[in-house]
Amino acid sequence: MAVPKLLYFDFILMVSAFLRADGYYYSRWSQCIYSSRDLSDMVYIDSHAFNKAVFSEYNSTLGKYVGYTEYGVRNAEFWNNNTNLLQQEKADVDRFCKHNAELYLSSIHDKTVKPKIRLSSVKQAGGKHPAVLMCSAYEFYPEKIKVSWLRDGKEMTTDVTSTEELADGDWYYQIHSHLEYTPQTGEKISCMVEHASSTQPIITDWDPSFPEPERNKIAIGASGLVLGIIIAAAGLIYYKKKSTGRILVPH
Ligand SMILES: *[C@@H]1O[C@H](CO)[C@@H](O)[C@H](O)[C@H]1NC(C)=O
Ligand SMILES: *[C@@H]1O[C@H](CO)[C@@H](O)[C@H](O)[C@H]1NC(C)=O
Repeated sequence: MAVPKLLYFDFILMVSAFLRADGYYYSRWSQCIYSSRDLSDMVYIDSHAFNKAVFSEYNSTLGKYVGYTEYGVRNAEFWNNNTNLLQQEKADVDRFCKHNAELYLSSIHDKTVKPKIRLSSVKQAGGKHPAVLMCSAYEFYPEKIKVSWLRDGKEMTTDVTSTEELADGDWYYQIHSHLEYTPQTGEKISCMVEHASSTQPIITDWDPSFPEPERNKIAIGASGLVLGIIIAAAGLIYYKKKSTGRILVPH
């Protein structure tokens, strides 16, 4: 990742003249207004206000200041006479607005993180009750996502329940979708996730050969077996080493 660029801050003045407890204040507010991704419609508004009432305002579309009060109109005329100031304000469309907007867009608007998908069995089919599968998507961004279920590549719409997208609190989200179904031999059940982080739908097939608790038991059993074999082999080697060179004395 490239070294993060610093945001470029325009100076913001907040001059206060507190005459009473509730006070009077002068404020300056810089706004960068845009809606297109290529920033071509960027407008820079630089407002000067007294007690929240804007009296003079620079608008980059007009390329000059406009005044809204008697004082504001005189002020705008005065500033509009200053070509240096107008050039500086015009340059702020690129230097300040577009520069910062590009950083926001690339780090927030365009950010996508692919979900981690996990398929698990919640309930196995037995007797009359159907099986329940859960498809979980973890740690994705942004929030918008679609989780659906496929039976042999065709979408299943009945007996599907899904949680809302749940915020993890660290910008990432998770979601869980349940499918109730009656297993049939030879079918393929898949979970399909559509998200901005992937141009293709992310399809995960359910492997019904061993439901998860079974798989865990097998994994634990297998590890135990391997560990046992290693200990037995070590014991055998130790025994062999010890016993060679020892003379057996008959009683
Ligand atoms: C800036 O000026 C343009 C052109 O007159 C106008 O359409 C736009 O509304 C102004 N923007 C603001 C925020 O006043
Ligand atoms: C603007 O400049 C002109 C010519 O330099 C001058 O006559 C006029 O008084 C100026 N206006 C203001 C408001 O400073």
